[in-house]
Amino acid sequence: MSVVAIIGGQWGDEGKGKIVDLLGEKADIVARYSGGSNAGHTVVNAQGEFKLHLVPSGIFHPATDCLIGNGVVINPKILISEIESLQQRGISIDRLYISDRAHLIMPYHPYLDELEETARGDSAIGTTKQGIGPAYMDKAARRGLRMGELIDRDLFQKRLRGFLGFKNQIITKVFGASPLSFDEVFEEYCGYADRLKPFVRETSLMINEAIDSGSSVLLEGAQGTMLDIDFGTYPYVTSSPPTSWGACLGMGLSPMKINKLIGIFKAYTTRVGGGPFPTELTDATGEGIRERGKEYGTTTGRPRRCGWFDGVAAQFSARLNGFSGIVVTKFDILDTCQTVKICTGYDVDGTILKAPPVNIDTLEKCQPVYEEMPGWQTTTSGIRDFTDLPKTAQQYVRRIEEIVGCPVDLVSVGANREQSIIINQIL
Ligand code: GDP
Ligand code: IMO
Ligand code: MG
Repeated sequence: MSVVAIIGGQWGDEGKGKIVDLLGEKADIVARYSGGSNAGHTVVNAQGEFKLHLVPSGIFHPATDCLIGNGVVINPKILISEIESLQQRGISIDRLYISDRAHLIMPYHPYLDELEETARGDSAIGTTKQGIGPAYMDKAARRGLRMGELIDRDLFQKRLRGFLGFKNQIITKVFGASPLSFDEVFEEYCGYADRLKPFVRETSLMINEAIDSGSSVLLEGAQGTMLDIDFGTYPYVTSSPPTSWGACLGMGLSPMKINKLIGIFKAYTTRVGGGPFPTELTDATGEGIRERGKEYGTTTGRPRRCGWFDGVAAQFSARLNGFSGIVVTKFDILDTCQTVKICTGYDVDGTILKAPPVNIDTLEKCQPVYEEMPGWQTTTSGIRDFTDLPKTAQQYVRRIEEIVGCPVDLVSVGANREQSIIINQIL
């Protein structure tokens, strides 16, 4: 029995979906604990290539229960279309369960996300416009609607009427935009309620009982630590905790019940959306990484900004989460580099920082201090044993391990489930 959390160590898109799909075979439960359809998790296995936004990446294993926890904000329209597209491709969703405490993305959330982003002008966050920030705002403001209410028609009608009036005031009076119709929203959501009701459960009870009776569980993170609402590059962050504590919060789990915390890191760094990014490469090297790594957003299609491995952010992230081990993904994308660089400090006007500064104005000024290492210039995608990697490649992995301060348990050398070098068993 083991409970393992898979957590993004950087700015998201580290390859969490691939790793959860790989490890999911041994899990009785795979549970998504935070974020919403801002996430895009790509899985490539014998059944094909899949881009998941809300459904946990364990769905391809027929004996695994997949839970969407209370910490996730759910757009029912997107979830239903994801369920249908999986079914059309022959994937069973019979073991999917949704928390009755998960908050709903309502039509005014993406609408307000768009209006707020436009109003921010040059300082736009670059959100995915999925309504994530506005939905978590309503949750904190005690103005949210939950899955458990969606399936109780009278209660849903009563609460929606109150909230929609308030939201329409903001939409019309603050933004000068058109209001939403109560009848249209209510009718639309009643349809979703009928479709989703069979999946709704008290998932925290399910997961706790399963753990107590010896089940193996994978907790699937979304986004990455540097996008955390408290510890990320605020305000250029998401509105939930993608971190190890988010796993507890978003599933109703005690920290005492998690045995391993695994950080997922790309062998380099990417970021999509606005905000400071000290190791960003705006030259041909960055462009080369983007093209080889197919670094375009799964949810929005935006080109991802690319740069060298940021050891300062990685060490910060590992310390905060308390990672017991890490996975290095997309190692193969650096195969053609003559040399590779790792950032080990931030230089701000001659002072070397070893942790990210709190204010973005200072972070914007940070110049990366690099260590340069020889590249391996060998195709690694067919390698399955760590000792078969060229020495220089092994040295790069070991240096990351030293900087992050915990063992590298797995090196991923391709998008496919099998393209993995397992160093230590994770689950
Ligand atoms: P997630 O959001 O953390 O699940 O990551 P995404 O799925 O958004 O982005 C990772 C992308 O890299 C996906 O297209 C994956 O199929 C792909 N990928 C994952 N691991 C590897 C790897 O080791 N090598 C290569 N070449 N691609 C990978
Ligand atoms: P996965 O799970 C990468 C980024 C957005 C934006 C910021 C805020 O695939 O790793 P939001 O829509 O959440 O309010 O946007 O966060 N962002 C992600 N970047 N991967 C993700 O998820 C992301 N989810 C949100 O680009 O900069
Ligand atoms: Mg992604």
